[in-house]
Parts: sequence; C-alpha cells; structure tokens
Amino acid sequence: MGSVVVITGSAGLIGSESVRHFAGLGMDVVGVDNDMRGYFFGADGSTKWNLERLTKEIGDRYTHHSLDIRDREGLDQLFAKLGKNIGLVIHAAAQPSHDWAAREPFTDFDVNAVGTINMLEATRRHAIEAPFIFTSTNKVYGDTPNSLPLVEQETRWELPEDHKWYGGIDETMSIDSSMHSVFGASKVAADVMVQEYGRYFDMPTSVFRGGTLTGPGHSAAELHGFLAYVMRCVMEGRLYKIYGYKGKMVRDAIHSHDLVSAFEAFFRAPRVAEIYNMGGGRFSNCSHIEAFAIAEEITGREARTEYVDENRMGDHQWWISGTGRFEEHFPDWKLTYDVPAILREMYEANQDVWKA
Ligand SMILES: NC(=O)c1ccc[n+]([C@@H]2O[C@H](COP(=O)([O-])OP(=O)(O)OC[C@H]3O[C@@H](n4cnc5c(N)ncnc54)[C@H](O)[C@@H]3O)[C@@H](O)[C@H]2O)c1
Repeated sequence: MGSVVVITGSAGLIGSESVRHFAGLGMDVVGVDNDMRGYFFGADGSTKWNLERLTKEIGDRYTHHSLDIRDREGLDQLFAKLGKNIGLVIHAAAQPSHDWAAREPFTDFDVNAVGTINMLEATRRHAIEAPFIFTSTNKVYGDTPNSLPLVEQETRWELPEDHKWYGGIDETMSIDSSMHSVFGASKVAADVMVQEYGRYFDMPTSVFRGGTLTGPGHSAAELHGFLAYVMRCVMEGRLYKIYGYKGKMVRDAIHSHDLVSAFEAFFRAPRVAEIYNMGGGRFSNCSHIEAFAIAEEITGREARTEYVDENRMGDHQWWISGTGRFEEHFPDWKLTYDVPAILREMYEANQDVWKA
C-alpha cells in the first residue's frame, strides 16, 4: 500500500491534527481544503491561519490543494494522479453546524452528503484498498438522546448510575424516528454511504461518530466549537450566550490528538464498514456551568454569559459517547486529555490571539 495520506478539511481542527500526525509518521500528506469554513462562519471561522501554520511547520511533506469536495471531477483527477500511492484517506471536510445548515440546505447537503460520495467514489476507483476514515457525528442519532431519563443535579443533567448508558451511549441507539436537523440528516446520508461502500464494495471504511471534538486547531466561532468558544469568550471578555437546559447540558469532549491516535489505530488494523461512537466519554465531559468554572479558574477572569431560555432545535441535553466498541477492537488506544487539560492548552496556545 502507498505512503500518501489524502486528508480533506486539512486546515480544519481534525484535518490539521491528522496532517501533523501522519506527516510525523513519515507519510506524505496531500491536503484538500478550500477554506469554506470562512464562508460558513465569517472571519472568525476562516482556517487560513491554520493552513499557513501547517505549511510552515510541515514543509515538503505537505501538499495543499484548494479544491472543493463538491468538485467531483477535480477530486477524481487528484486521486487518479496519486493512484495506488494512496495508503489512507481521512475525510474530515464538512459543513459542521446545525444552525448554518438551515440557512442553505442545498449547500449543506452538497458538501456533507454529495462531497462524501465524491470522496468514496474517487477512492473506490483509484485506491480501493486504502482505509477510508470518515468523521461523522453523534447528531446522526437526532434528538433521541433527549428521551433519556435525565436527573437534574447542581451543575449538570445526569443519567442514573444504573442506566445501561451511564458510561456512554453506544452504537445500538437507533438513528431513526427522531429530529436530526438539516445538518444531522446530511451527515446521516454520508454516514450510511460510507458504511455502504464498505459492505457493498468490500472497502475498509470506517465511520467515527464524534461527540464534541476540540483542540487548539479550532477556529472558534459562535456557531461551532463549544469549548474553544467558551475559552475565547472568557479570554476576550466576550459575551457568551447559553441556549437552554439551564446551562447544565452535558457534552463529552475529545481532544483532536486523541481522536487522530484512534485513526492511526484503525489505519494499522483496518476493518470493513465499521461505526464507532467516539468522544471523551466518562473520562472527559462537562456542562456549560462546569466549563465556565474551569475556564475562569485557568484565566483568572470572570466569564460574561447570558442565558437564553430556549435551547437550539434538536440540541442534545446530555451526550456522553460510549467508546467500548472501539476499545474492544483497539485495546491499546487510550484517551489522554480531559476537559481541564483541553481548556488549559487552548488558553496557552491562544494567549497572543485571543486578547481582551
Ligand atoms: N468539531 C466538532 O465538535 C465535531 C463534532 C462531531 C463531528 N464533527 C465532524 O468532524 C469533521 C471535522 O470537523 P472539524 O471540527 O475539524 O471542522 P472544521 O470546520 O474545523 O474543518 C473542516 C474543514 O473543511 C473545510 N471545508 C468545508 N467545506 C469544504 C469543501 N466543500 N471543500 C473543501 N474543504 C471544505 C473547511 O474550510 C475547514 O477547514 C466534520 O465532518 C464534522 O462534521 C465535528
């Protein structure tokens, strides 16, 4: 198998971490990213800064293509050129926000769903043996997690300890009969298609259904990037609006480094048509109230928050990923960052950027 990794969304949070990681393993990385995040979220969201940092850091091992994953022919030509040199495909380019998707449903679907089949088909035609890793989302379960019997605690909502998913929701939760949002539905389409290319064409495809993915490579914007935006607001003295659930909604958070080390585990021992719920699990999770308390402690600054009674449509009240299936398949993989470690690293990495 080839020594080239093709990574889409290579200037984004997960893509850039993947670029660094696999270049560090001595592989040549071909990145595809057209900075569409800047179009989605404005200047705050642009990933240009991250691309500049990457190209400086990685040098010759990294080749960038400002290609749109909706450009089917462009992708096909790129894959045809690289052919069997491709040893791994990581598809992390996406329109990642619920709220944004409702503004332009066609664009959301074209990027998330059609862009994914474009990637799958280019891989099938030119590098069928290469493991294909797709970053899906826990939003494929729609709002079904909100039917869990949650109990209100002082700083968070919580499941009773004897509930089967206390340790985290696993992949047996149904993806049917729930409200997904336009974004969730376009990701479901992509997620199922990635599984299908595995089963139908016997390709080593995998779907990683992320909870909150985070890390210092996040271009924090209000509509996407929970922990990074919390830290940014506290550091800059910006007002943060908390939408619903009394500020007690629970998210698990996985650092991009820990996610990408899971990608490496899959790359080294690929399987066909796998799905994995992937997040910080019980090891790394928090509510809004808890995240702000930690951020205040780290920065020594007081957070400015405003509470809006209505939650975002379809937003999960409680999500902790059950990562048992992945751990069973890859027992050597371990989480290394919890929420305080993630926030501290963001604080340290952005001292010169996020100023009051
Ligand atoms: N960040 C999270 O909390 C989270 C949670 C669950 C799932 N995910 C999924 O993980 C993946 C990566 O997320 P991320 O946080 O790194 O996102 P990101 O927005 O930081 O990175 C995505 C990158 O893709 C690029 N891109 C977007 N549309 C493109 C197009 N049409 N052609 C080429 N490039 C394009 C963007 O410019 C951006 O640099 C996405 O599929 C997302 O849905 C993210």
